[in-house]
Amino acid sequence: MMRIGPYKFLFLCTGNSARSILGEYLLKRLGGGRFEVFSAGSFPTGKVNPLAIQVLKDIYDIDASDARSKSWEEFKDLQFDFVVTVCDNARESCPVWPGQPIVAHWGLPDPAAVEGTEAEKYRAFKEVAAEIYRRIQSFIAPAITDASSQDLSDILDLLTQVQLPHDGVAENLNGFLVARDESSRLIATIGLERHGSTGLLRSAAVAPGYQGCGIGSRLTRHLLERAKNDGVERVVLLTTTASEFFAQHFGFCETARTVFDTELAESAEWNLPRCSTAVCMTLTLR
Ligand SMILES: CC(C)(COP(=O)(O)OP(=O)(O)OC[C@H]1O[C@@H](n2cnc3c(N)ncnc32)[C@H](O)[C@@H]1OP(=O)(O)O)[C@@H](O)C(=O)NCCC(=O)NCCS
Repeated sequence: MMRIGPYKFLFLCTGNSARSILGEYLLKRLGGGRFEVFSAGSFPTGKVNPLAIQVLKDIYDIDASDARSKSWEEFKDLQFDFVVTVCDNARESCPVWPGQPIVAHWGLPDPAAVEGTEAEKYRAFKEVAAEIYRRIQSFIAPAITDASSQDLSDILDLLTQVQLPHDGVAENLNGFLVARDESSRLIATIGLERHGSTGLLRSAAVAPGYQGCGIGSRLTRHLLERAKNDGVERVVLLTTTASEFFAQHFGFCETARTVFDTELAESAEWNLPRCSTAVCMTLTLR
């Protein structure tokens, strides 16, 4: 099994002036601290293409003014976990890296080779950046699966970490989803308790270090789609910390909790004294 991050990740291309620079800065942003990111070239131009810096600033609000075009010689003694080549040239002359990193090749067109107006060149950089962004997103997206009894202790540990209650989790485990990272570490969970046609969404938790990377949104979307397919008519939740997250991203609305007191009377979470002052929110699914 691979070690727990931050993983060392290297983007390689020939000149280290455009594609590998875009990869480096986009993964630094999207990886949320899970990766230590580097970029290098087999024949570095020594100068970062200004359009790469411009696109990072304009489209992704990333300041890459400190980017450097440098040789892979600089990193030859580092033990990388991942090495990704982003042009055919670098793949052909890719040296053997110590420590057996996972090596992948993302063949991407060279935006610096595009001839035309400034606007056309800018568009080429924008397009290749969008492609790199998509690939990074799918690379770092963890697999979502149904929770099993083997996940229970990891789920409870994660809930402790983010200070959410354990009550009723074991009894409702069949309504839980989990996400694990590249090293199989459990990094997120969410659960739905079924009470007739009402579902109580609970235990939405993403491990610190992974928050803000879209994992909580993916899990929630997955859970809501499944609830709808299973005939759940409305989803209710209690929150003291994330009402804006559920309102803005999924359309949950604040509701008086007494409306559900009878329906959710059997729920251990609903009856916890610490939840009595939480905001109650609902979403109608049909
Ligand atoms: C709340 C939580 C599940 C969200 O998951 P996440 O993976 O961090 O969120 P995502 O990356 O999918 O979504 C990010 C978006 O939600 C917003 N967001 C995340 N947590 C938020 C919160 N607590 N309140 C308001 N907005 C929040 C981000 O600003 C971002 O907005 P944007 O897309 O407009 O930039 C996660 O942050 C978490 O586990 N927090 C600690 C435990 C907790 O409070 N759980 C909720 C219990 S009801």
